[in-house]
Amino acid sequence: TGDTTFDIGFANTAVCKSAITYIDGDAGVLQYRGYPIEQLAEKSTFLETSYLVLYGELPTTEQLADFTEKISRHMVIDERLRELFRIFPRKSHPMPVLSAAITALSTFSRDTIGFEPDTIEAATHQLMAKVPTLAAYSFKNSTGTPTLFPDYSLSYIENFIRMSFGTVTEPYQFDDTITRALDVLLILHADHEQNCSTSTVRLVGSSQANLYASVSAGVHALSGPLHGGANQAVLEMLKQIRDDGVTVQDYLDKVKNKSDHTKLMGFGHRIYKNYDPRAAIIKKHADAILKARGGSDQLLDIALELEEAALSDDYFVERKLYPNVDFYTGLIYQAMGFPVDMFTVLFALGRLPGWIAQWREMVADPTNKIGRPRQIYVGHTKRDYVPMNER
Ligand code: CMC
Repeated sequence: TGDTTFDIGFANTAVCKSAITYIDGDAGVLQYRGYPIEQLAEKSTFLETSYLVLYGELPTTEQLADFTEKISRHMVIDERLRELFRIFPRKSHPMPVLSAAITALSTFSRDTIGFEPDTIEAATHQLMAKVPTLAAYSFKNSTGTPTLFPDYSLSYIENFIRMSFGTVTEPYQFDDTITRALDVLLILHADHEQNCSTSTVRLVGSSQANLYASVSAGVHALSGPLHGGANQAVLEMLKQIRDDGVTVQDYLDKVKNKSDHTKLMGFGHRIYKNYDPRAAIIKKHADAILKARGGSDQLLDIALELEEAALSDDYFVERKLYPNVDFYTGLIYQAMGFPVDMFTVLFALGRLPGWIAQWREMVADPTNKIGRPRQIYVGHTKRDYVPMNER
């Protein structure tokens, strides 16, 4: 087929130039705009990191205050949009609800749809402000409890926590350890160059579809268990090991034999052939948070045992399979009180600035083209139509 290169899963194809995130998968290095993830996780906040990812530089005090104010101002959603949450069945998985809500948000934000700098800026603020509200309402729908209005006096993270767990009748008591842990987890997820959901955002956006449509598609791409859905799948795997009473070694044998396509969820990565630096940071937090919250130490023990056994097993060593970002996050989210269905929504909340930044970078690039991969045709050669009574 002429000059077409065959590259399943785009494993060796670069489709854009990007100045947002740098990864050295062999060395386990991750940097946003040149800043190491370890420093951002220790010193930054999610909103500050979002600004960095979106605009390329760390903000000054005034710039951060302005950005925060613009986001706070837009956190409330139209009352009609709030009604949308009534039509989904109770206990709906919050990921499709979130994606549908972002699509619906575009119909309420028509004056922010377009490609002028001001319009793009307005859509950026709309999404950064409203997605946490929509995510919290998706959660409230799944628990059947009343939604809360955002509270401008709170930080971005506190506001999301209160809208998720607060009630209309009582003031919410914050736990600073939990608030900071969620802040750090979202920082770790803020961007990860051309992963499946980000590539989806870019591909959808490459047809000049608007930012809302592109982000909503990104949420769907993220939902799969090989991508963001892995954080939910890890916790389900740990529970299964506990409840079935199988040993960690038995489980690893099943993975190695590839029986029932069993994978060690939360292990392996297309780019990292070393310890995922995000997993290393999360692992440090997991123990402290679980202890502080009285969370499930038993599942953490299984996770630690799995990790240790896998890292010294030839199957995993030869394939350079290490824990990825999803291996420990579920345990922390659970200790925070989130049900498993919400884990991937939290990933989406974290990845939001990355999706927006990548879409903005793409539309600002005059050399950008519509995404349109090729294929190798392996079907029939030409044949003639067969009438129904002759088939
Ligand atoms: N458990 C067991 N074997 C594995 C695993 C795993 N988790 N991951 C890869 N392998 C094996 C795979 O079977 C293959 O073996 P063989 O050479 O014998 O056929 C080899 O390692 C290479 O794997 P691959 O499937 O070609 O690698 P990929 O780059 O296409 O897939 C991945 C990357 C992340 C989808 C994969 O490692 C995986 O399915 N991991 C489990 C799901 C998971 O944790 N996903 C979260 C990824 S990080 C966050 C995110 O992106 O959302």
